[in-house]
Amino acid sequence: MSLSYRKGLEGVIATETKISCVDGEKGYFIYRGYWAKDLAIQYTFEEVAYFIWHGYFPNETELQSFKQKLNEYRQIPQYVKEVINLLPENMHLMDVLRTAISAVGNDSFQWPPKIEDAIRLTAITPTIIAYWHRKKNELPLIEPNDNFDHVSNFLYMLTGKRPTYAHCKALSSYMILTMEHGMNASTFSSRVVCSTESDMVSAIVAAIGAMKGPLHGGAPSGVLRMLDEIGTPEEIEPYIVNKLEKGEKLMGFGHRIYKTTDPRAETLKEVAKGLAGEEKWFDLAVQLEEKAIELLNRYKPGRKLYANVEFYAAAILKGISLPKSLFTPTFTASRMVGWTAHILEQASDNRIFRPQSLYVGKMPKM
Ligand code: ACO
Repeated sequence: MSLSYRKGLEGVIATETKISCVDGEKGYFIYRGYWAKDLAIQYTFEEVAYFIWHGYFPNETELQSFKQKLNEYRQIPQYVKEVINLLPENMHLMDVLRTAISAVGNDSFQWPPKIEDAIRLTAITPTIIAYWHRKKNELPLIEPNDNFDHVSNFLYMLTGKRPTYAHCKALSSYMILTMEHGMNASTFSSRVVCSTESDMVSAIVAAIGAMKGPLHGGAPSGVLRMLDEIGTPEEIEPYIVNKLEKGEKLMGFGHRIYKTTDPRAETLKEVAKGLAGEEKWFDLAVQLEEKAIELLNRYKPGRKLYANVEFYAAAILKGISLPKSLFTPTFTASRMVGWTAHILEQASDNRIFRPQSLYVGKMPKM
């Protein structure tokens, strides 16, 4: 077998999958044979999550039974609340989530992973996020409400108010579009851990660790910071030029796979537009996108850098008034579906991941 090395595993196929297709040249993004953008607009979070795990849409009875299970598993066990309560107040929410999910992982999660495990983790993640968010901000804690579906309940637990239809629909579209995305760093991490025949929670804890990084799930808060720092259209060009002259990256631009506009960004842009109302930030984001593409093309010719999903994700999350600290955790709550689907797929036809490294160090005297 001849061995070759690709830094960052670029262009290397690590596994086969039936869950999603991401074609960066053509700009295709498909969930099990359907355009993801159509599912994001026409279906609910529950329907698409079920579809991603099972490969078919639920009938009415299956949907009701799935929703009931989600409701049951939303509650945080008392001992996990106690673990969370012991954490330092200034802890990053992603660190809280990683710790709390790890604590959820008791003996009831065993190899081989089950769909039940996936439902449990998907159901509890928004509750942990809302619990910490309200506790840190010294707001009264809010228990999950069985009358709300997954997305509305998340907004309700965060804000304490009945969410509007427009906010629920926007967040649902965002969560469906970011549920799954092929062999990204966090999904790959989860499959690697699963391939050792470890349990689903251990694989998810690894994925959360990968998600936290600014080159992956940590980008949207960087986008919002950039918009805040720019402030007015006149400042766009000098701001970008300054960043690029210093060799810094623009958050929300570029992608390992997409060499054309990220199709998720296009759909989210439409959703964000509907939320923007009278506010100027959406217009600023659109102008920033246009100018950034032009300047990236000038400073980084041939690299094909366009807005990625994180750029308009920031606009949506701002549109529904979520604070920056919730951006990456909300992305995590969505991606839980994709991670768990990949873990189930990996386990169904497992072979341990064991690549090689190219030794470039010194050799002993022969
Ligand atoms: N701003 C400026 N230059 C960039 C950007 C950017 N956002 N992205 C890539 N480049 C440049 C690099 O500097 C590099 O230039 P060089 O050839 O002169 O060295 C070239 O384009 C290739 O970039 P790499 O970093 O090697 O591309 P890679 O495929 O490894 O990285 C990544 C992809 C991490 C997404 C990168 O584009 C990036 O850091 N973007 C900003 C962070 C971001 O938005 N992350 C969210 C991605 S979407 C997600 O994970 C959900």
